Amino acid sequence: MVELQSVGFESELSLFKYDTLEQLPESHRDLDEAARSRRIAAAREELGDRVIVLGHNYQRREIVEYADFIGDSYELSKRAAESDADYVVFAGVTFMAESADIITDDDQTVILPSMEASCPMAGMAEAVQVDSAWETLVEESGGKDIIPVTYMNSYADLKAFCASHGGLICTSSNAADAFEWAFERGDAVLFLPDKHLGRNTADDLGIDEVVEWDPWAGDVAESMGATDEVEPDVPELGDAEVILWDGYCQVHERFRVDHVEEAQADGAKVVAHPECRPSVVAAADEVGSTSHICDVIENADAGETWAIGTEVHLARHLARWHPEVDVRPLCGDACMDCNAMRQVDPNYLTWVLEELAAGREPNVVEVAPEEKELAAVALDRMLEL
Ligand code: 13P
Ligand code: SF4
Repeated sequence: MVELQSVGFESELSLFKYDTLEQLPESHRDLDEAARSRRIAAAREELGDRVIVLGHNYQRREIVEYADFIGDSYELSKRAAESDADYVVFAGVTFMAESADIITDDDQTVILPSMEASCPMAGMAEAVQVDSAWETLVEESGGKDIIPVTYMNSYADLKAFCASHGGLICTSSNAADAFEWAFERGDAVLFLPDKHLGRNTADDLGIDEVVEWDPWAGDVAESMGATDEVEPDVPELGDAEVILWDGYCQVHERFRVDHVEEAQADGAKVVAHPECRPSVVAAADEVGSTSHICDVIENADAGETWAIGTEVHLARHLARWHPEVDVRPLCGDACMDCNAMRQVDPNYLTWVLEELAAGREPNVVEVAPEEKELAAVALDRMLEL
């Protein structure tokens, strides 16, 4: 099995994971909706079943209406793997395109329409950074056997790192199973990159010995400071069963418990994504992944009111798809869209499809072979849960 190299992370962190991807050319910047529809239809006609377009739940209407499949990141990768299409155009963010590349056959090519669609949370735990913190973490924990578990929302090199240190990947639906898997093999879990999903999972499992690790703090003592979510008696790293990397999603962190209480006072039930703060998750009526949120609304009775605690585009899609249910975003106009998802605009989609139809392959996301091999190991461990 391939070993990852240790490197100094300060100089190697990058804003965009694949900075070789091309930007939208001038010729495609001002297309109107009618021109776009016509051109997308012509390119798709030319490509036939050589292309499949996947639209993540958080993409805007003008993207999902051109998608062959709409869903969560993991479902979409599975759709790609099940199809025989040569080209998988993934309207989502970089880590999703990477996961699709890991799971699809070698002769399938994954295209990310926009080079700037990089999830900030995935960027909060880059493999080089985790690799460089690893020894300190093990040392400070008194030589514990730490099993790294990374959320699907992370880059392929971090997934590979987890595999090479005996760990695995999880989604927001199977994080508790992944923790249990890890505890059968080690003394503590290092959960990356989302501290809220990690703490919500620890809460589900009744684990109290949880610490946050701030990779940006100067030393370990600083990184152990109490926060909003951690009250004064913070356990020592040596006592910790779960170590949370200090990453978060800014879209989900925006929700507060008073949004939940206001919605409930107004007669709504609340469904929240587990990337939300623990206080929000505790107050919500339902908690789950984006597919679970879709199921909740699909199964709601006509006339019910549901407030959606996740990215605002999914709330809007659900309101459109289920007019019999009163669906609203949890914090109204203050709800955020995902800045990374927003980078995939319909002109980018038009451009990549036209390029493919013309025989060129723009913005290919290809995970390096050694990372791919290891990331697939971490993924397989998850599939066996
Ligand atoms: P899913 O894994 O449900 O697609 O969610 C992705 C995501 O980015 C959540 O913030
Ligand atoms: Fe990343 Fe949050 Fe956007 Fe999901 S919603 S892609 S976690 S920034």
